[in-house]
Amino acid sequence: MRGDTKPDVCVIGLGYIGLPTAAIIARAGCPVHGVDVTQSVVDTINRGEIHIEEVDLDGLVQAVVQRGLLKASTEIAPADVFVIAVPTPFAKDGNHTPDTSYVMAAAEKVATVLKKGDTVILESTSPVGTTEAMRDAIAAKRPDLAMPGLCDGQPDVSLAYCPERVLPGKILEELTHNDRSIGGITPRCARKALAFYKRFVKGECVTTDARSAEMTKLVENAFRDVNIAFANELSMIADRQGLDVWEVIRLANRHPRVNILTPGPGVGGHCIAVDPWFIVHGAPEEAKIIRQARETNDAKMHHVLARAKALVEANPGAKIACLGLAFKANIDDFRESPARYVAASLAREFGERVQVVEPYAGELPREFDGTGAELVDIDAALEESGVLITLVDHDVFKVIPPEERQGKAVYDTRGIWPDVA
Ligand SMILES: NC(=O)c1ccc[n+]([C@@H]2O[C@H](COP(=O)([O-])OP(=O)(O)OC[C@H]3O[C@@H](n4cnc5c(N)ncnc54)[C@H](O)[C@@H]3O)[C@@H](O)[C@H]2O)c1
Repeated sequence: MRGDTKPDVCVIGLGYIGLPTAAIIARAGCPVHGVDVTQSVVDTINRGEIHIEEVDLDGLVQAVVQRGLLKASTEIAPADVFVIAVPTPFAKDGNHTPDTSYVMAAAEKVATVLKKGDTVILESTSPVGTTEAMRDAIAAKRPDLAMPGLCDGQPDVSLAYCPERVLPGKILEELTHNDRSIGGITPRCARKALAFYKRFVKGECVTTDARSAEMTKLVENAFRDVNIAFANELSMIADRQGLDVWEVIRLANRHPRVNILTPGPGVGGHCIAVDPWFIVHGAPEEAKIIRQARETNDAKMHHVLARAKALVEANPGAKIACLGLAFKANIDDFRESPARYVAASLAREFGERVQVVEPYAGELPREFDGTGAELVDIDAALEESGVLITLVDHDVFKVIPPEERQGKAVYDTRGIWPDVA
């Protein structure tokens, strides 16, 4: 890469983060080689189509594929900059241990084509120390290359960590406009990565070291989780003491320096329910509040299920409408969703009495198979059900007027209907 020549970029992992990132880099004029282990993902993208739901992404991918700027493959290819956006789930050990094996597999692929002058950037949400571990994995495969932090003189390649903090549904906008923390293994690595992001990011890019950047991402989600746990704990205390938690929070938030969040049926999704455990895993003795917040938010889901069951049992024979399966409002993402867990548990216990309303689902997820529960639209649910359990604050549920809910037993776990305590 010389002068202002556009760098060749290789993006590894073409999911919710990798594909929009690849498309935006391509839009900035850099030729992008996208890599994914899933053949169907590669084939879809090469047709100019997309395999995930994201606002405006279809048009952008179609345009950059047509212009020849984005090509996908299952095979790695040489590039000037490598961006890794593969999953970082838990290991299946039941202890919430971070599984960085996808990152290491991607790094080892990169090692096979890496050359002097290249930059490798990890974007996957990762435990502190992962970028260094990735560097060590590459160093073991490529002893011919001087690696940052491991050599005395100038290293041959640069390695950096740059987390994503985008909101699904606004990914394209936020990828471009959000501020970014860019952490290098060395300050020079950070500067190299910064120069790359400047090509397509309009937000402020702040450089730091790799470990701080890794921790920053985890801390952002742990902060949200702890604050949600406070609200959820309050809601369980309020239930015990016969108080209306919404009223208490509304009044407390009139204090100029108090801003309590909204309780719900727990915390779901791929980030807030997962990332705090990476902190706990790294410092189990110290991360006490962070661990407790995770446990409190999980406990809230079981608390909601118990209250919902009690309401159903108090209304024998009535149809039960569960409103929502998504992990948050107005999206079609059902991963790790407490709403989905509560609705499926009720379906297993109360079978055909359960109706699920989820405007963002074409069919019920697999765990509902054989339960007898059915997916219905909101009008059918309002007509037929005697019990309403609000699990997601989709806009379409918020606007249901009191008269349409009249005579029904209601458990509003999201506080969307101010007339319901
Ligand atoms: N989705 C979000 O909103 C979001 C937000 C911030 C951060 N993140 C983080 O970004 C990372 C990626 O998340 P995502 O939501 O894009 O995941 P995803 O599951 O949507 O996509 C990951 C892709 O990587 C592919 N893959 C797995 N191993 C691979 C390998 N060795 N080589 C090439 N491809 C491989 C998978 O086939 C998949 O298509 C995770 O660490 C996640 O925590 C996600």
